[in-house]
Amino acid sequence: MNAQETLAQIAQEVAVCKNCALHHSRNKSVPGEGPANAEIMLIGEGPGFYENEQGRPFVGAAGKFLDELLAGAGLKRSDVWIGNVVKCRPPGNRDPLPEELAACDVYLERQIAAINPKIIITLGRFSMSKFMPGARISAVHGQMRRVGPRFVIAMFHPAAALHQASLKPAILQDFAQLPKLLEQARAALGQVSAPVQEQAKVQEEPKQLTLF
Ligand code: URA
Ligand code: SF4
Repeated sequence: MNAQETLAQIAQEVAVCKNCALHHSRNKSVPGEGPANAEIMLIGEGPGFYENEQGRPFVGAAGKFLDELLAGAGLKRSDVWIGNVVKCRPPGNRDPLPEELAACDVYLERQIAAINPKIIITLGRFSMSKFMPGARISAVHGQMRRVGPRFVIAMFHPAAALHQASLKPAILQDFAQLPKLLEQARAALGQVSAPVQEQAKVQEEPKQLTLF
């Protein structure tokens, strides 16, 4: 199965999934969407009212703001993959419970493995905690960190920035940095996936070698 087929398969599974209590209150599950070869994955919290109606991520007010933020990075929605840590709407938009996050994580893990993005952008604390346990968003937002085979950037949740005006400049600035960070990620990961080039590069830098 190629990445696109795997993502379609996962979407079919979450449409009928009953692995946690959130299935009781959902109208439509929201598997996430975007190109299967996206370099950037954005991972939010969970569907809200409109997402639950339409089965698509970030279609409400936060989604509109997310489109503006992406535009600030020179990106269109169709350039990135967008999803959530839980695929079904928590009733009344309450926080997802630990057992719901755990139950739904298998789908997200499979989506990440299929897409294999260079950068994961976490939107909000539940998504951040998956990759940076214990981190404080106010301290780490906008910083790119290596996590296993890729990079993770924690950002404020667009809905939080909509409701808390003081966060807006920070999230705008963090998105504006994205083209630069993507270049850095491409350069760093290019070396990992092309060991021959990496060797050549080391040989080109004798200054580093003389340090040993
Ligand atoms: N907020 C989220 O975290 N995800 C969505 O899909 C919509 C709003
Ligand atoms: Fe299944 Fe995830 Fe929906 Fe829970 S939230 S029912 S685990 S798809």
